[in-house]
Amino acid sequence: MPLFEGLGGIGLINEKNTTVVLDIGTAYTKAGFAGEYGPRIITRSEVKCRETGKNIPLFQYKNENELRHHLVDFIHKLYFRCLLVNPKDRRVVVVENLLCPTVVRNTLAKVLFRHYEVLSVLFVPSHLVALMTLGITTGLVLDLGHKEATLMPIYEGVVVFHAWQALPFGGSLIEKSLSELLLDRAVATTEDGTEHRLSSIMQDIPNRYLEDIKVRTCFVSTLERSSCLQNNKYDRSIEPPPPPPSVHYPLEGHHILTIPGTVRELAAESLFERDQDALTLATLVLNALLKCPIDTRHKLAENLVIIGGTASMKGMKHRILAEVRAAAASEQYCQILPIPSFMLHHPPAKDNYVSWLGGAILGATEAVMLRSYHRDQYLASDVVPDWCNLSFNTCEDRDEKFA
Ligand SMILES: Nc1ncnc2c1ncn2[C@@H]1O[C@H](COP(=O)(O)OP(=O)(O)OP(=O)(O)O)[C@@H](O)[C@H]1O
Ligand SMILES: [Mg+2]
Repeated sequence: MPLFEGLGGIGLINEKNTTVVLDIGTAYTKAGFAGEYGPRIITRSEVKCRETGKNIPLFQYKNENELRHHLVDFIHKLYFRCLLVNPKDRRVVVVENLLCPTVVRNTLAKVLFRHYEVLSVLFVPSHLVALMTLGITTGLVLDLGHKEATLMPIYEGVVVFHAWQALPFGGSLIEKSLSELLLDRAVATTEDGTEHRLSSIMQDIPNRYLEDIKVRTCFVSTLERSSCLQNNKYDRSIEPPPPPPSVHYPLEGHHILTIPGTVRELAAESLFERDQDALTLATLVLNALLKCPIDTRHKLAENLVIIGGTASMKGMKHRILAEVRAAAASEQYCQILPIPSFMLHHPPAKDNYVSWLGGAILGATEAVMLRSYHRDQYLASDVVPDWCNLSFNTCEDRDEKFA
C-alpha cells in the first residue's frame, strides 16, 4: 500500500471508489467526498509561484502553460495534503460555473486526466446542483461569489441558458470600497496612545485584513435605512438615521484601528448602487425573468436561491429580496413584469458551499457512472464536451435525439 493512501487504503476512511468533489472558486476551493454533508477542506485558491515562492491566486496566469502548472500544484495539494487520497483511478465531480472560461475547463481536464490519471470527470453546473440540496427542480439561482455575481434560471431541471446574467459585484467589490472608506475615515491609535488617520500610516490595506474586517464587522443595512442615508446625501436638511456603533480592530499587532459605524454600513452599499448601465443585483434578477418564457416567470420568482460566500454577509439576503420587490414595483418593471410575489429558499448548508454540497449529492448517485467523461474517451479525442462548443451541439445531434 503506497504511503500516500493513508488510512484510506485499508478501507477505514475513504474506500477506493469514493468520488472526490471539487468546487474551485476564484477565492476559495471546496474539496471533499461524495455523499458527505460538507467539504473536508475549504482552502484559498492560491499556489506558490515557482519563481518567487510567494503565494499567488490560482487563476492569475499569463498563458495556458502557466495555468497548467498552477493547477498541477494546486490539485497535488488538494489530494495529497488535504484529502489524503490518491487521484489515480478515482472518479471526480467538478462543480463548475457555466460561465467559466473554456481554457480553464480544458486545462483542468488535461491535468486531471493526463497528469493525475483520474478515472472519470463529471463537470456539473454549480447553479443547477445548488437546487439538488433543496430537492427542487425549478429556481432562479444567484451566486454571489468573490469576483462576480452570476445568475442562472433553471426550469424543471433545464438551465435557461439565454437568460443568464452576470455583474462584477462580489466580495472583492465590497473589499475595494471598504479599503477606500477606511483610508478616508478610519483612525489608528498607536501604542503610545496617539491617534493618526489610517491613510497617513499605510497607503494600501493588505487583502488579508480587508477580508477579515469585512467578514467580522461589516453588514448590509435595510432598504429603508439606506434610502434615508441616500436622501441625506443629496438634501442635508433631512435628518440621517443614527450611525451604528464603531468597533476597534487590532491591526498588525501595534495599532488599534477604530472603524466608524458608517464604514461598516456603507462598504456593502456598492453592490446596490446602479452602475453606468443602471444595473444592480435587483435588475439582474428582473432582467433574467424577462428573458425567460412568460409562463415560467411566476414559478421562478417564487423560487429564488441565493448562494456564494458574499450572501453570508449579515442582512444581505433580506436586502436583495427587498430591492427586488421594490424594483419590480417600480415604473420600469411593473407593466412589463407583473409578478405578485418573490420568495427565497434557505439551502441546508452554509452559503459558500451549497454548490459543493449539490455536487456531493449528485456524486453519490448513479449519475457519476452514467454521465461522467471517461479517461479513455478523453485520451482518444483530447477534448471535453462543452455546451458552448458547436461541434457538440450540431443540428444532427439534436435531430437524432428527438427522432
Ligand atoms: N460571513 C461572510 N460575510 C461576508 N463575506 C463573506 C462571508 N463568508 C465569506 N465571505 C466572502 O465570500 C467570498 C468567497 O465566497 P465563495 O467561496 O462563494 O467565492 P468563490 O467561489 O471563491 O468565488 P467565485 O464564485 O466568484 O469564483 C469571499 O469574498 C469572502 O470574503
Ligand atoms: Mg463560487
